Amino acid sequence: MDERILVATDGSAASSVAVKKGIDLAKATGAGVIGIYVVDEVAILNAVRLFGADKEDLERKLQATGEEAVRDLKRMADNAGVPVETVVTTGVPANSIIELAKERGVDMIVMGGHGQSGVTKFIIGSVVKNVLYRATVPVLVVR
Ligand SMILES: Nc1ncnc2c1ncn2[C@@H]1O[C@H](COP(=O)(O)OP(=O)(O)OP(=O)(O)O)[C@@H](O)[C@H]1O
Ligand SMILES: [Mg+2]
Repeated sequence: MDERILVATDGSAASSVAVKKGIDLAKATGAGVIGIYVVDEVAILNAVRLFGADKEDLERKLQATGEEAVRDLKRMADNAGVPVETVVTTGVPANSIIELAKERGVDMIVMGGHGQSGVTKFIIGSVVKNVLYRATVPVLVVR
């Protein structure tokens, strides 16, 4: 297994469509999958600054969301017989996705067209748009 597909999930229904597609693609091509969830540090800082949210509490909640999201991804990959590893990290989502893609030399990135925010007035969300601008490998946007 040399080929690897990086699948980004934010735990939303929109991203679960991308997760399924990424795993299908990996299975069909004999590739492995790396699943990533990024705890959004900017969103945390904004929530603390603007709404007085409890920083540690929010970090814990997002970490738990991420662990559940990558656990679901791993279960689907295991069921499909696709080699899988998962990463939950903290940072700016698009930056962390791009960094991991470079670090691990992945062959493709698969993401949803939208995510958690569910704002569909834009064609695609800001995280996936940012990755599209900067990625040096093919990006599959699933919508
Ligand atoms: N925190 C994250 N960690 C990993 N992947 C993410 C994260 N946030 C978004 N993604 C990936 O990006 C895709 C698109 O989500 P994005 O956040 O760009 O759209 P949105 O939530 O609808 O809009 P926005 O966040 O710009 O308000 C998701 O389906 C997922 O694949
Ligand atoms: Mg989002």
